[in-house]
Formats: sequence, C-alpha cells, structure tokens
Amino acid sequence: MPFPETRARRLRDHPVLRRMVAETDLSARRLVQPLFVKETLTEPAPIASMPGQRQFGPDQIAAEARRVADAGVPAVLLFGIPAEKDAVGTQASAPDGVVQRAIAAIKHEVPDLAVIADICLCEYTDHGHCGVLGEVAGRTTVDNDATLPRLAAAAVSCARAGADVVAPSDMMDGRVGAIRDALDAADLGHVPIFSYAVKYASHFYGPFRDAAESPPAFGDRRGYQMDPANADEALREAAEDLDEGADALIVKPGLAYGDIIRRVKETFGACVAAYNVSGAYAMVEAAAARGWIDREAVIREILLGLRRAGADLLITYWAAEVAGGESRYA
Ligand code: PBG
Repeated sequence: MPFPETRARRLRDHPVLRRMVAETDLSARRLVQPLFVKETLTEPAPIASMPGQRQFGPDQIAAEARRVADAGVPAVLLFGIPAEKDAVGTQASAPDGVVQRAIAAIKHEVPDLAVIADICLCEYTDHGHCGVLGEVAGRTTVDNDATLPRLAAAAVSCARAGADVVAPSDMMDGRVGAIRDALDAADLGHVPIFSYAVKYASHFYGPFRDAAESPPAFGDRRGYQMDPANADEALREAAEDLDEGADALIVKPGLAYGDIIRRVKETFGACVAAYNVSGAYAMVEAAAARGWIDREAVIREILLGLRRAGADLLITYWAAEVAGGESRYA
C-alpha cells in the first residue's frame, strides 16, 4: 500500500515500539569474551595496541573470567602465551601448559562459564607460523599434514584440561577431521568444534599479534589464510569443515566481511560466530580516544551489523562491557 496509508515512521517514532520491533539485539547470551593468559606474568599487563585490554598471568585469569561471567557473558575464548617456544609448538599440547592450567583454573573457579580453547600453533612456535615448517618445492612453508597431529594433540590436551569447546584457527586443510578423530579416540566425543572455517589473511589482526606475541618471523600467512578477494571459496571452506564434523562456524574478521557471514549462514543454516577482531577494536578505541566518534554508539552499530549479517554469536573484546551495560547497548 502506498503513502499515506503506509507510514514506516509509525513504528519508528514511538520509542517503546521502536525497541519492541527491533529485529536484532546484542543480548549477552550471544557474546564471547577473548582472554589472553601469559605464563610469565605475575600481574596483568596492558596491551598497547588494544587500549582497555590486558594479558593476565596464570594466577589472575580465573578472577578475570569471574568478572566476565558476572557481567553476564556465557563464554570466554582463551589464548595462551607460553614461556618457551620451539619449532613445533610443544607447549600447545603440554598437559601443564599455560592454557591448560588456565582452563583448569577457570573451570574450577567459574564452572558455569563455557571455556573455548583457541587451537593454533602460532603463539607456541618460535617462528610464529600457525603450523610446523617444511620444504615444499624448494620453499620453506607450513607443512599442512605434519601440522595436523600437533593441532589434534593441542585440542585433546585442552579438552582434557576441561575446555568445553575447541576452536581451531590455523586454517590447515583437514584439521577439523583430524581433531574430531583425536577427540573421539580420547573419549572426548562430547566436545564440540567451533571451526574458524573462514579466516582471511587480514591486516585487521595487527594488534592481536602484540597481544598474543605471535607475529610470523618471516613471510606472512597468505599461504594458509584466505585471500580477502574471495567469497565463493568461503563456502567451500565452510562445507569442508561441516563435512569433517564442525559444530559451529567462525567467520573472521567480521567487520568488512558481512557478505561472507550472510552467505555462510544462508547456505548452511549452521551456527555462525563472527569475530570482531583486534584491528576493528583498535580503530574504534583510537578514534573514540580522540573524540572523533561516539564510542558506545559505534560499538553498538558494528556489533548489530554483524548480527544483522547473520551471526548468531559475536566474539568481541567488548563482550563484558556490552553484557554489563545492556541497557546502553540495547
Ligand atoms: C591465530 C589467531 C589470530 C587471531 C585469532 N587467532 C591471528 C592471526 O591469525 O594472525 C586474531 C584475532 C584478532 O585479531 O583479534 N591463531
């Protein structure tokens, strides 16, 4: 029906109705807070390129997790920074590794908080790549198949330590299947895999590499992470991971990749999580610190945009803040 019978403003101009008819929201149940635990820290250390975020020591991580849970956030995504790094990332699968100890401490102190363990080797290798290195056609690169058992071992050790979910973020081919087989063989068949099925080789990860102390010592990650020019390929990646047993799919970054979130969601109808990564966080914080944008309004708009694109879950450094201040972000 045309104007004047139809007036879109009727529902918009009434504040109560406007809120009632909102199609998406930022309810706390959909949020995941990333946390960094660093083995050598005895007190929290600020992350310069991510103002407001900190690395925590093994003795402080459970208290921080408690704070996140008290704000209403149901899950944390854990990254570990070990004291010792080596070529194969031994500490990623060490039973007494920093992330394994953090998982156990959090599950002990805050049992109702879901702990998602990020599974990757880049924080644990001395060369900073996400897998084990090898020679292919005369070039040094990440050896896909040699990496799979290392990732599977890391996933099993995190699950044994009490992780509720494992989230492989390495982008090796076949790793979801390898992890699924290893979990099942270890009597951990109940542990779901949230796969970073669609992870781009993004410059939005810059600040994270300070936070996780994981920049590659040479080259870049374009040999395993996806080319930002591609979208159809994202659907093939997602299909493969679902075939191999992924229980939910992560699209990363989220900002600038709304089309990918939408296509993955519509094509597969699976649970999709969008990761609002460190660079998107840092840009907002930097502009807000200069008074150039309205910080909370912009945070809300970015996160709503990811939900509107089709994300069921949002992994965001703002999770605890948004959950704790739901009225401001509603
Ligand atoms: C690596 C990993 C990265 C992020 C999460 N897991 C960085 C990378 O691939 O270089 C990025 C997260 C962020 O930027 O917030 N395993």
